[in-house]
Amino acid sequence: MSGIFFLLLLSSCTSLVLSAKHGDGAVLLKIKEQLGNPEALSSWAKGLDFCNGSGNIYPYTYIGCTSTGRVSYLGFASFPTSDVPFPNEICRLTELEVLFIDHVFGFNGPLPSCINKLVHLDTILIHRTSLSGHLPDFHNLNNLTYLEISQSGISGPIPPSLSSLPNLQTLDLHWNDLNGTIPPALVHLPTAALYLNDNSLSGELPRCYGEVNIRAIDVSTNRLTGDASFLFGKDKTFTYINLSKNQFTFDLSYIEIPENLTFLDISFNGIYGKVPDSLATARDSKLVSVDLKFNPLCGTEFAPPTCTNSAPAPAH
Ligand SMILES: *[C@@H]1O[C@H](CO)[C@@H](O)[C@H](O)[C@H]1NC(C)=O
Ligand SMILES: *[C@@H]1O[C@H](CO)[C@@H](O)[C@H](O)[C@H]1NC(C)=O
Ligand SMILES: *[C@@H]1O[C@H](CO)[C@@H](O)[C@H](O)[C@H]1NC(C)=O
Ligand SMILES: *[C@@H]1O[C@H](CO)[C@@H](O)[C@H](O)[C@H]1NC(C)=O
Ligand SMILES: *[C@@H]1O[C@H](CO)[C@@H](O)[C@H](O)[C@H]1NC(C)=O
Repeated sequence: MSGIFFLLLLSSCTSLVLSAKHGDGAVLLKIKEQLGNPEALSSWAKGLDFCNGSGNIYPYTYIGCTSTGRVSYLGFASFPTSDVPFPNEICRLTELEVLFIDHVFGFNGPLPSCINKLVHLDTILIHRTSLSGHLPDFHNLNNLTYLEISQSGISGPIPPSLSSLPNLQTLDLHWNDLNGTIPPALVHLPTAALYLNDNSLSGELPRCYGEVNIRAIDVSTNRLTGDASFLFGKDKTFTYINLSKNQFTFDLSYIEIPENLTFLDISFNGIYGKVPDSLATARDSKLVSVDLKFNPLCGTEFAPPTCTNSAPAPAH
């Protein structure tokens, strides 16, 4: 993650200006207050020029500004704070484009819904926190391309309104306590990736994920059921499919492997039938890793006694 941090850091490092304008400096001091005036931020004081790097405390904080002196990038990494609610003063940084929070287990409680006011946001990356509660609505964030809230304690449903974000390339909500069903069309761009692994999601995967062209899907370690065979097909754009550790039940016998698929993991499910010819004979395939283990597939020790190599397995 720190790789991404510094990559973003470079790309949004904009021109040096005299000071954070429009009161953004005062907002940063309020944020410091909401964080309980931590020792690490002792140099954050009235009159400090936050936009020329003086507010950056390596490796804990990074602030980037627009050419007009507004805060456009706010990052907290491995930040030592006692237990505090998410500092909602952040919602007053109305020119914010990147919000980066990694490894800040002091952040508790829900992500405030006022985040939805930060319409210039391009990237939200919140990783390894103690945030809990439900996800707020992000429907105003039309410029959002990257949304990650992972390895935290977010619970409840995935808001269906997430599917209205027109520019979303990556939606990563892995390793939370999300439950309920997966809304349709959360991502729809050809280069998009969807990571919902390690939650408590249930129900069937909406069929539309076989109709949109996306690059990666990871729904492993949930409680999903039913068919997911619609993800497969020679002309599908997937390079990564992970369905591992669910209760999917479908016939694998006649699926076609997407031509650019490199990683396939369907282990620990109720997937039946035989290993498809398209896998057995995939000569010019790009596959690097295939994991079919712990499924009742014919020819494996997990196969039901009635399994034959020609007929689909008994209906579930
Ligand atoms: C930022 O500007 C202040 C004066 O406004 C100066 O004292 C300080 O050294 C500068 N800091 C950096 C990191 O350039
Ligand atoms: C969204 O992005 C477009 C293109 O980069 C830009 O012109 C527009 O101003 C942005 N809108 C907001 C609200 O930031
Ligand atoms: C999700 O979890 C909450 C709290 O544990 C529970 O009340 C709710 O019924 C669950 N919803 C579904 C659809 O499982
Ligand atoms: C798929 O997900 C499982 C469980 O989350 C993980 O253990 C496995 O490494 C993943 N497979 C691949 C190919 O990434
Ligand atoms: C597979 O990758 C090649 C080369 O990047 C690309 O031209 C082709 O369109 C891809 N095929 C699919 C089905 O995405």
